[in-house]
Amino acid sequence: MNSQDRIKKLIDLRTEAKLGGGIKRIESQHKKGKFTARERIDMLLDEGSFEEFDMFVTHRCVNFGIEKSKFLGDGVVTGQGTIDGRLVFVFAQDFTVFGGSLSETLAAKICKVMDKAMLAGAPVIGLNDSGGARIQEGVNSLAGYAEIFERNILASGVIPQISAIFGPCAGGAVYSPALTDFILMTDKSSYMFVTGPKVVKTVTNEDITTEDLGGARIHSSRSGVSHFLLEDEEEGIMIIRKLISYLPSNNMEEAPFLETNDPSDRIEDALNTIVPDDPNKPYDMTDIIHAIVDNGEFMEVHRNYAKNIIVGFCRMGGKSVGVIANQPNFLAGVLDIESSRKAARFVRFCDAFNIPILTLVDVPGFLPGSIQEYGGIITHGAKLMFAYGEATVPKVTITIRKSYGGAHCVMSSKQLRGDLNYAWPTAEIAVMGAKGANQILNGKKIAAIEGEEAQMKESIRLEDEYTEKFANPYNAASFGYIDDVIEPRNTRFRIIRAFESLATKRLANPAKKHSNIPL
Ligand code: HXC
Repeated sequence: MNSQDRIKKLIDLRTEAKLGGGIKRIESQHKKGKFTARERIDMLLDEGSFEEFDMFVTHRCVNFGIEKSKFLGDGVVTGQGTIDGRLVFVFAQDFTVFGGSLSETLAAKICKVMDKAMLAGAPVIGLNDSGGARIQEGVNSLAGYAEIFERNILASGVIPQISAIFGPCAGGAVYSPALTDFILMTDKSSYMFVTGPKVVKTVTNEDITTEDLGGARIHSSRSGVSHFLLEDEEEGIMIIRKLISYLPSNNMEEAPFLETNDPSDRIEDALNTIVPDDPNKPYDMTDIIHAIVDNGEFMEVHRNYAKNIIVGFCRMGGKSVGVIANQPNFLAGVLDIESSRKAARFVRFCDAFNIPILTLVDVPGFLPGSIQEYGGIITHGAKLMFAYGEATVPKVTITIRKSYGGAHCVMSSKQLRGDLNYAWPTAEIAVMGAKGANQILNGKKIAAIEGEEAQMKESIRLEDEYTEKFANPYNAASFGYIDDVIEPRNTRFRIIRAFESLATKRLANPAKKHSNIPL
């Protein structure tokens, strides 16, 4: 074989590898409205930046006749490339090869990109479309999964890890994404479950559809497993690219700065009237967020899950900021099990990756009742408290309206090392609302009054007295728990100036192996 033949052989092998499981299976993938692994990578990375590894790897299994069918690359395309010029590592499972199922060699390919990403300090993006453990491989496939899981765990908090679910993912195929920072799922074409409906039926006799068991909507709204619900794969690719733009490449770096033409001292007069006079009337917290962030751009995470709290990324004065905000428009912004878990995880992500935290508070308290207690609200609420208290990144808190009881302590209060705690004049910071407080403090006294009308009158008088004394920001400000009461229209400027002053903040927690967050 002369050198020209050798070059031709290389070109032929590359062509063969690029066809994955063959044209028929590629067509079948397209018919389902899905892209192939290579098409997905092409869309994700900057044009011409992809460098592939391990294109010639094949499986080594000899069970059940599988040794007769081998495909170059063995069901996953791996490599590196750039997003907006920044290095990322990527793997995309190829459903056209044994349904993207995980063999020992496929796992080794994924582990290789993860190891490279850790060495380089660059994010890993997984595009998942896999039938789980390759059944013919048995225990070698399980070992392969565990190798990946261990790498996910060690990379957690060191490099960002993002998982898109672009097809059915069962068994082991769901646990690696679950160990990563963000999960995205395409509506009606992606599924995540430990075991599918057939096994469910056998084990528990439950009849359930694939969609209801592990569809994108269920995981984005009920279980909270997925952070982003996607219309289609193109939207998913766009969201991954955008998400990366807000994040540093690793835990030793800061997120990229993006020059903005939005003035840092922009005054927003509308904010002075956004909070209704009636404390029980809701308003949309996202209106406040959009009004204060650079160019009104806010990337909400977990939008469909635990809507009583909002989390997401924005930029302020060009710098990435993580926002956590109670949403009075949904369940009055109460803290419950789901919202506590959602926000805690987000706070910890921001802290791990040096992203300053902005907290906007309007919270009536923790949701009371047996459902919450039986579900462990004590433990879940403690997660959020722990996350805030442990975080060492710059923390700026604005109390917009209510901040009552334990929820006041939790939401980045001064004593949980909030750096700058501001309040609007509409803030109410107290142990509880006037109604509840009045009932506990004066219930017996009021009951002793003769006549319903007189009781009502005295009750209102006492409630007003309480409101006057406690339902304002000045009581907290008099103790220095609130650093300043600010005019709402100046909020953007005050936040940006606060974060600027905190840019050189240095704070470390006591040396320890690791903390023991109430999981
Ligand atoms: C080997 C597999 C496979 C697997 C699919 N294929 N899953 N091969 N091992 N796990 C192959 C099929 O044989 C088929 O090959 C091709 O991939 C496409 O599969 P279809 O079934 O035709 O596709 P579709 O109808 O779209 O269904 C996709 C699917 C289904 C829902 C993923 O294939 C399925 O249920 N697979 C098994 C899922 C599963 O139970 N996995 C094991 C989980 S246990 P041909 O040659 O016809 O194209 C696990 C343990 C790890 O993962 C736990 C660690 C914690």
